[in-house]
Amino acid sequence: MLTHGQSGIPDSGDASASGKPLIVSQTEALALPRDAAELDSPFPLRDGAALHQRAIRLDDAPRLQAFHHRLSDRSIFFRFSGIMPELNRELAERLSHVDYSDRMAIVVTQGRGVDKPIIAVARYERNGPDSAEFALAVDDSWQGRGIGPRLLMTLAEYASRKGFTSLLANVLYDNDRMLAMLRHSGMLTTLRIREGYAEAWLDIISAKGVDDAR
Ligand SMILES: CC(C)(COP(=O)(O)OP(=O)(O)OC[C@H]1O[C@@H](n2cnc3c(N)ncnc32)[C@H](O)[C@@H]1OP(=O)(O)O)[C@@H](O)C(=O)NCCC(=O)NCCS
Repeated sequence: MLTHGQSGIPDSGDASASGKPLIVSQTEALALPRDAAELDSPFPLRDGAALHQRAIRLDDAPRLQAFHHRLSDRSIFFRFSGIMPELNRELAERLSHVDYSDRMAIVVTQGRGVDKPIIAVARYERNGPDSAEFALAVDDSWQGRGIGPRLLMTLAEYASRKGFTSLLANVLYDNDRMLAMLRHSGMLTTLRIREGYAEAWLDIISAKGVDDAR
């Protein structure tokens, strides 16, 4: 189970250590690997909502805390397999520090701008030579509008570009919406039920752009 914060955290979140090209946002003065920076783009919904997607940033901890605070107990339980009404600061900071390769998170915000509220998060973390475990959460008031499926495709495509071939989700057996989403994704290869969880494996080798999702 991908329980945020219990897994290895990169020492500094400094992408330059990997030797990858960096670009620096003129307005934000934060360095991101180029392909992570390129995620910064509109996230249109069919109903016309003006959402935005971007890679998570080092300074997103307070916005992650606010996002978590708004989640229902049920959504938190589905996401974390436990009761956690608040996201403490230490965990929020660890979750906002990724290396944009082995550990990655993509957020959806309501409008464009780093100060805009986060309404969805998808993340993965390497769990094998070619695989990673992933999880998503969407603000309750935004669920059921296609954010999850679109964000899953974005995450899968990014992971595929990083060389991953499969993604694993450990889903509580009664999380019908998540299971329906995975079944509809076109990427589900294996679904094993064990000890209250559905272990769902996705083949992401040919993960396509989000325009093909839904
Ligand atoms: C599970 C979750 C991420 C789904 O995100 P979402 O934005 O609410 O997803 P949506 O309801 O818009 O999409 C799923 C629906 O679209 C359908 N769908 C998904 N992809 C589709 C596709 N490519 N084509 C057609 N339909 C599709 C699914 O069947 C599902 O419909 P249903 O619920 O009516 O059966 C979200 O509900 C959530 O955050 N839940 C709480 C936390 C959680 O459970 N996280 C998962 C932990 S592993």
